Amino acid sequence: MVETGISGLDAMLYGGIPKDNQVIVVGGPGAGKTLLAFEFIYKGAKQGHAGVFFALEEDPKRIIHNAKSTFSNFEDIDELIDQGKIIINGKDISEGILSEFDDPKYEFGKIVTEMESLIVKSGATRVVADSISAVELIVKDPIAYRRSMWSLVANLRRLGVTTLLTSESDRPERSKLRFKPEHFIFDGMLAMYQSGEDIKRVSALEVLKMRGYRHSFITAPYEITPSGFDVLSAEEMTRR
Ligand SMILES: Nc1ncnc2c1ncn2[C@@H]1O[C@H](COP(=O)(O)OP(=O)(O)OP(=O)(O)O)[C@@H](O)[C@H]1O
Ligand SMILES: [Mg+2]
Repeated sequence: MVETGISGLDAMLYGGIPKDNQVIVVGGPGAGKTLLAFEFIYKGAKQGHAGVFFALEEDPKRIIHNAKSTFSNFEDIDELIDQGKIIINGKDISEGILSEFDDPKYEFGKIVTEMESLIVKSGATRVVADSISAVELIVKDPIAYRRSMWSLVANLRRLGVTTLLTSESDRPERSKLRFKPEHFIFDGMLAMYQSGEDIKRVSALEVLKMRGYRHSFITAPYEITPSGFDVLSAEEMTRR
C-alpha cells in the first residue's frame, strides 16, 4: 500500500492506495483536486519518495504558489523541490496542437512518451496528472479519447508508479455525478463532492472504487487546513 499521508484518507482506503494503481480524482471547480494531488506528492517526498506532478493546465509556478499559500505549515516545499523529491513539470497539452493538420492522437502519444522519460529519469514512484480533462479538449473523437486514456494507464502501469489523475466534473453534487469512460478505465476512483447548502457549502469525499481492495463506503466531509487536508473519519463523524 502507498500511504497518501492525507489525514483520514488512508483510513478510508484501509491503508492507502494499492501500489502501482492508477486512481482518478473527480470533482467540481475549487473542490481541491489540485491541492489534494499536491499533498499526495508532498507527503511522499517527505518520506523520501520522489514524485512528479504533471501540471497539464496550470503554470507550475502557480501550483507551487497556491500550495505554499494554502498549506502554510508545509515549510519545506522549496527544499524538497531543490532535492528533486518534488518535480513540478509544466506541459500545456494544447500547445502541441498547432494546426488542424496535426493528429491529436499522435500529439498525445508524444506527451505520454515525454512523461514516461521524466518519470524514469527522476526515479519517481508517485505521479500526478492534473488534469486529464485537458486531454478531452484535444482528442475530441470519443474512440480516440478512450484509446488515449488506455495507453496512458498502460504506460503508467508498466512504469510501476502510483498515480493520481484529476478530472473535472461539471456536476459537483453526489446525486448528479455523471460517469465518463475514464472512470471505468482507471483502477480506483475518488470523488470530491460539494453540496450547496443555503449559507455554507459542504465538501465531502468518497472512495467510489478501488479494484481488488476493501475500502470505506462512507462519504466523509473534508476541510482544507494549513497542515493539509483533513478528511473526517467515520469515528470522528459520530463523535462530533
Ligand atoms: N487556506 C485555505 N483554507 C481553506 N480552503 C482553501 C484554502 N486555500 C484554498 N482553499 C480552497 O481550495 C480551493 C482550490 O483548490 P484547488 O485548486 O485544488 O481546486 P481544484 O479542484 O483543483 O479546482 P479547479 O478545477 O478550478 O482546478 C479554493 O477554491 C478554496 O475553496
Ligand atoms: Mg485544479
